[in-house]
Amino acid sequence: MESRQDEISILEIQDLSKSFAGLKAVDEVSFGLRTGEILGLIGPNGSGKTTLINVVTGLLPASGGKVFVNGKEATGRPAHRVARMGIARTFQTIRLFKELSVIENVEVAAVSMGLPRRNAVHVARDLLAEMGLEPWADRLASEIPFGDQRKLEIARALAMNPKFLLLDEPAAGLNEDESDLLLDLLRVIRANKPVGVLIVDHDMRLMMNLCDELHVLNYGKTIAHGTPDEVRGNAEVVSAYLGSSA
Ligand SMILES: Nc1ncnc2c1ncn2[C@@H]1O[C@H](COP(=O)(O)OP(=O)(O)OP(=O)(O)O)[C@@H](O)[C@H]1O
Ligand SMILES: [Mg+2]
Repeated sequence: MESRQDEISILEIQDLSKSFAGLKAVDEVSFGLRTGEILGLIGPNGSGKTTLINVVTGLLPASGGKVFVNGKEATGRPAHRVARMGIARTFQTIRLFKELSVIENVEVAAVSMGLPRRNAVHVARDLLAEMGLEPWADRLASEIPFGDQRKLEIARALAMNPKFLLLDEPAAGLNEDESDLLLDLLRVIRANKPVGVLIVDHDMRLMMNLCDELHVLNYGKTIAHGTPDEVRGNAEVVSAYLGSSA
């Protein structure tokens, strides 16, 4: 894989808001993410995590605030343009092309970014190898184990050669061993690719071990931002979300 380790990109989220008929699902949230960082976004069910990803990626229009990639405004652009600016994501509910093979799923993502078909095949083969999905290459996406479907979602996002990878609950439905493997995989991705990762998940073992920093939402608002240790020790976070579990 080509390396662009020296290129640092910055994703800035400034006072981002999203309302649904009066419900403030995301309420003036600000944070930044740089190449090489893994930032966790946590909070109770309905606290606005998926909505934030949907707004950042252009799937939903913002009600207020702005998103910048390396100083260029992403807000107001349609999803495919935001993808071209270098933001790729996965979905909380897996969205693969079920009737396509595993490798075709990855190829399609590369082609969607303008890569010629022949190059897309190579990118897809490399990514499947990196993700340990090669044995499944020619199987239908719907036939492979659930944990591998989650990895395939990540491979598809990486095929878009993103500067920023936004993962919405990649560990949902995984058992503890699979979650550990995902942790290792995400660390390898961070080490080998010039990418910043924003990850949403309720698997606190994964999040506390993986993330450099955590950003905590409650009812759409930021209630804390800090290292896993700082967040774990924050009384408001414990009462709103963590309880005694972390
Ligand atoms: N398209 C929509 N229309 C109306 N309300 C919505 C829509 N999408 C989300 N909401 C509401 O916005 C709030 C935030 O939802 P969101 O899905 O972003 O939460 P979440 O933090 O991702 O939760 P979870 O951890 O359960 O995935 C919730 O009250 C939800 O019902
Ligand atoms: Mg969600």
